[in-house]
Amino acid sequence: MAAYEYETHDYDVVVVGAGGAGLRATLGMAEQGLRTACVTKVFPTRSHTVAAQGGIAASLSNMGPDNWQWHMYDTVKGSDWLGDTDAMEYLAREAPKAVYELEHYGVPFSRTEEGKIYQRPFGGHTTEFGEGPPVQRTCAAADRTGHAILHTLYGQSLKNNAEFYIEYFAIDLIMSDDGVCQGVVCWKLDDGTMHVFNAKMVVLATGGYGRAYFSATSAHTCTGDGGGMVARQGLALQDMEFVQFHPTGIYGSGCLITEGARGEGGYLTNSEGERFMERYAPNYKDLAPRDYVSRCMTMEIREGRGVGAGGDHIHLNLSHLPAEALAERLPGISESAKVFAGVNVNKEPIPVLPTVHYNMGGIPTNYFGEVLDPTAKDPNAVVPGLMAVGEAGCASVHGANRLGSNSLIDLVVFGRAAAIRAGKVVDAEAANGALNQASVDAAFDRFDGLRNANGGTPTAELRLEMQKTMQEDAAVFRTDKTLKEGVEKMTNVAAKVDDLKVTDRSLVWNSDLMETLELTNLMPNALATIVGAEARKESRGAHAHEDYTTRDDENWRVHTISRVDGKDVELSHRPVITAPLSTEAEGGINLNRIAPKERTF
Ligand code: FUM
Repeated sequence: MAAYEYETHDYDVVVVGAGGAGLRATLGMAEQGLRTACVTKVFPTRSHTVAAQGGIAASLSNMGPDNWQWHMYDTVKGSDWLGDTDAMEYLAREAPKAVYELEHYGVPFSRTEEGKIYQRPFGGHTTEFGEGPPVQRTCAAADRTGHAILHTLYGQSLKNNAEFYIEYFAIDLIMSDDGVCQGVVCWKLDDGTMHVFNAKMVVLATGGYGRAYFSATSAHTCTGDGGGMVARQGLALQDMEFVQFHPTGIYGSGCLITEGARGEGGYLTNSEGERFMERYAPNYKDLAPRDYVSRCMTMEIREGRGVGAGGDHIHLNLSHLPAEALAERLPGISESAKVFAGVNVNKEPIPVLPTVHYNMGGIPTNYFGEVLDPTAKDPNAVVPGLMAVGEAGCASVHGANRLGSNSLIDLVVFGRAAAIRAGKVVDAEAANGALNQASVDAAFDRFDGLRNANGGTPTAELRLEMQKTMQEDAAVFRTDKTLKEGVEKMTNVAAKVDDLKVTDRSLVWNSDLMETLELTNLMPNALATIVGAEARKESRGAHAHEDYTTRDDENWRVHTISRVDGKDVELSHRPVITAPLSTEAEGGINLNRIAPKERTF
């Protein structure tokens, strides 16, 4: 057994991660007087939410008619009927409240002439249950909305006495023998000390796992740490095969160019200068949902109409927009285009390519963020003491495809919901229970094993192999052949974790060790993704299968549940929740409105 000295900290709640969801949960917990710690591997305002550009969806009706039912309909359709109906109703209904709260906390939203929150169009957001024109539903702080939200929530959390443990890496969950989450074991990166957090509730807000792929808009820190920790405890992941490609990552670097650019009037062209989206999506054109636009771009490239010397990307045009509008509404991406593509957006198009952007799947939860145990007899059974929110979780509001700007609203609605729920289930008066020492020791043993790993495969080499495999074989378009090969390759890649080599054995700022821990988190996420994709014999949302080109609701309107053990993945299924929270008589949506139908644009 590895002997590490550690300090123990007792809290009511420990939130792991300080992005939008983590901070909103932290703030909500602290506001209620719960003793709340937020443990984060990066400084809070450097969390990946800082990169969210275009905005946050809520039916405020500031720019024209809108309502939560239209938002819910769009979300259901966007999800390609794989989202859970109760959670989608909760999201759409609570969204305006959550945005006004942000405004009152101090988020500096852009404003209309009348001083209202400015809202822009985003893909897939419409009026009249998809029958009307696009709606301006996405509330924006220029093109730095995530940045604005993050700074505000961090300040408010400090004001409410939440305690931050910054640059602490969460190694593993502490679980009792009967499956209750009791806390988390952490490593403090800057001085090498070890810390055990004893908590009545642990909230995983660790973000997505975009870095399982070679080219992603995600920060290098997006390594699926929550999913990795959950998988190691034998708990489930859900719908991992659904990986969103954002249509406009900058060609080469993968940096995000917000969908807000198309919302403000930008458009895509091919090598013939054609605005090809008009052909594929006559109604919504460049503002069709992301999965669809990404596929259309890929088809244009495949059919020889890509731009550039290699004919391997597409142009995003903004130069027709007034310079003042670009400066006011899109200053951030104007700068990114200059830095990462050498392009002056006032004069030239930006070279773009569909780039991995978001994970619809994650740790399965109910709409309060409580982690589900989908293999228990009771379908509503939760894992006591454990929540997951934000991109780490899967509530599931995005189903097979997320609409742009539904991510930021997911973060704050469900971060807030988790806090509301914790206020009910966490007893602030009770003393913290004794920890399962065997679970604590197991975390240190794993850490020590990796720290002293002396095999033949450097971490960076194995990570690259994983990223290239995922990029090639779990791509925008998938086939039986590529997926089968991908599963075989990924199984071999995952087996090599036992042969890792770590050269730096120190405990202070050991990035070799940290990246190794991150790789062991990425790996189960990546494996579950490709194995789930290989098993799903239909096309739905972001899972575009060339051998099964249509959606098959009879057999596949189910969530994929995966349990990962080393290189092995066991799959099962869970029904999609089709019942809304409220009946029509109670003011809810008419169910005929959201009945499955063909998804056209
Ligand atoms: O395009 C964007 O600004 C990204 C937004 C989102 O992913 O929701």
